[in-house]
Amino acid sequence: MSKIQAIRGMNDLLPEQSAKWQYLEASAKQVLAQYGFREIRTPIVEQTELFKRSIGEVTDIVEKEMYTFADLNGDSLTLRPEGTASCVRAGIEHGLLFNQTQKLWYAGPMFRHERPQKGRYRQFHQIGAECFGFTDADADAELIMLTARLWRQLGLADHVQLELNTLGLAEERKAFRQALVDYLTPIASQLDEDSQRRLHSNPMRILDSKNAQTQALLAEAPSLRDFLGEASRNHFDILLQHLDAAGIKYVINSRLVRGLDYYCHTVFEWTTQSLGAQGTVCAGGRYDGLVEQLGGKPCPGVGFAMGVERLVLMLEALQGFGSELDAQADVYVVAAGTGATAKAFELAERLRDQSRLRVMQNLGGGSFKSQMKKADKSQARVALIIGEDELANAQVIIKPLQEETGQNTVAEADLMAALQDIFKDAF
Ligand code: HAM
Repeated sequence: MSKIQAIRGMNDLLPEQSAKWQYLEASAKQVLAQYGFREIRTPIVEQTELFKRSIGEVTDIVEKEMYTFADLNGDSLTLRPEGTASCVRAGIEHGLLFNQTQKLWYAGPMFRHERPQKGRYRQFHQIGAECFGFTDADADAELIMLTARLWRQLGLADHVQLELNTLGLAEERKAFRQALVDYLTPIASQLDEDSQRRLHSNPMRILDSKNAQTQALLAEAPSLRDFLGEASRNHFDILLQHLDAAGIKYVINSRLVRGLDYYCHTVFEWTTQSLGAQGTVCAGGRYDGLVEQLGGKPCPGVGFAMGVERLVLMLEALQGFGSELDAQADVYVVAAGTGATAKAFELAERLRDQSRLRVMQNLGGGSFKSQMKKADKSQARVALIIGEDELANAQVIIKPLQEETGQNTVAEADLMAALQDIFKDAF
């Protein structure tokens, strides 16, 4: 029979990788909590219209990357390609956004039908944060500080750089868009194919074309900065002042426009050189018009989402992971004989009662040698050994597995104290 396999671009997360994901997720959750964010969970499937209206009809995501299907009753549904639209939908639906502020985070799978490659998948995972009800640039700054703190905590700070831009307001962009189209139309035939197509549908996306000839043609193009009013320029300047004061370095990239249509004012991306082509590990910006666009009362928003797969790849490439993360247990309990097995159960349970240690007891018997092999494989720091002699004398052997130091026989009554010496934080 032919084997059934996972869908291309959708990956299994195997046990030896999951500890790394948990480490990253735990670090992110802790930092988010430090800034007062609370979790929201929304369904993975939404009405297709939600993403069309928020991300934009003429974006790559909506035009060609969505997993859209007809429900049994004929409704058009879509697997969420991102989290912001769902957060806004839920916020409006449950009255979380009117006349109040919210700081929300979410984590989970997103779906885009892109060409899979390293760091780019069809099911991928984001951890995102959204702030609602904050108009000023201090909220933009705080979000960026939060991400910078997470990079420091993960040891990634020296390997990421922050790119920033401002997109101003819709009216300002409209005037700029016209000027850009006027500038590009006479030279349209020299643009790459994608950009020619975008000239009339979404001309600002031409700015971040990867094509060298298109980029060269853009050198003399009008600049959005010149179309911004005072309030928009102020918003950006204040953000920069906050970042300067916090010692956060950035590069202003006037070509950064992002692939989703809902942004205004601030947009930003954290990028890295250490992942090859898929170098953006976190991206976001402000979307003051989105709540209204989706049927709510006006409410400003700003947020970001990071790509979990990309961050895990970075952590693996740059710092490796400590052996405690790979380990399946802290303590492995080895017992030879029926009486000793009963004692092993008793001690293992007591240890779980009194500590947070991960205790793996040998199951299925076997020779002392084969049990010790399994103990090594678990990568536990110590083995507890109970043989017939130890059982008779109410003793336990503590054998370090990761260090060269010799084993130690202790009275059963002293076992907890001896383990507390080794695992100080676990009791
Ligand atoms: P985005 O730039 O589309 O923004 O995605 C955010 C991050 O998700 C990217 O920087 C990348 O790390 C990761 N990512 C995106 N697509 C893939 C993929 N196919 N495979 C692996 N990782 C991927 C948003 O989604 C916005 N909702 C962010 C936001 C929140 N803006 C405001 N609030």
